[in-house]
Amino acid sequence: MPNTSPIVSSMEWRYATKKFDATKKLSKEDFSEILEAARLSPSSFGLQPWKFIVVKDPKVRQSIREAAYDQSQVTEASGLMVLAVNKKINSAYIDEYIFDIAKTRGVSPNSLKGFSDMLKNSVSGRSTENLISWSSRQVFIALGIILETAALKNIDACPMEGFDPKKVDEILGLEKLSFASLAMVAVGYRSAEDVSADYKKVRFTKEKAIMEV
Ligand SMILES: Cc1cc2nc3c(=O)[nH]c(=O)nc-3n(C[C@H](O)[C@H](O)[C@H](O)COP(=O)(O)O)c2cc1C
Repeated sequence: MPNTSPIVSSMEWRYATKKFDATKKLSKEDFSEILEAARLSPSSFGLQPWKFIVVKDPKVRQSIREAAYDQSQVTEASGLMVLAVNKKINSAYIDEYIFDIAKTRGVSPNSLKGFSDMLKNSVSGRSTENLISWSSRQVFIALGIILETAALKNIDACPMEGFDPKKVDEILGLEKLSFASLAMVAVGYRSAEDVSADYKKVRFTKEKAIMEV
């Protein structure tokens, strides 16, 4: 029986778009909605170790394309966002986060001391490498949410890791901000000439992908 769930249909409809129609632009509202879904993504302890960089400047998009093995999606899609990880999750960052929670929820920062100490312990017990790896996993949650939000709105997207992150960090000046690029998402509308739109989806069977215990 065909699945009529809008979530499943959107997942079947979407694909990593290889060729975008450069003449079709996303509305500002649609683009903002995708970004808002990213901003609202969950993360471990709510630490949000990310930045979503919207690349508007065509010259910057061209430079990024060169750092991305000339993948045409980078310049031909209507929008491009780079997902970066915050490399500086430390005690000062946690203090700022605790202050934000206190302000948002109208409680005193002191009442959050137990949570704050626990967070600081969790962070200080990790090596820098482990911390960045952990933070990076949070960024990829947002990537998934971006892709599904776009799909539910019949907006095409291509997630991309195929680029030289050092070059992209340099182009965007991320190093001095203590951020590092992890992935990009091109969003827009598929070109009628994109033959990969008709490729059958290759996925493991339910039996292979899912285990019940
Ligand atoms: C993290 C990530 C990085 C990817 N990098 C690229 C990329 O650089 N270029 C590209 O064309 N597709 C890229 N893809 C797309 C995958 O190849 C694609 O999602 C996968 O083959 C499954 O196909 P589908 O998304 O079309 O269903 C990437 C996907 C993910 C999730």
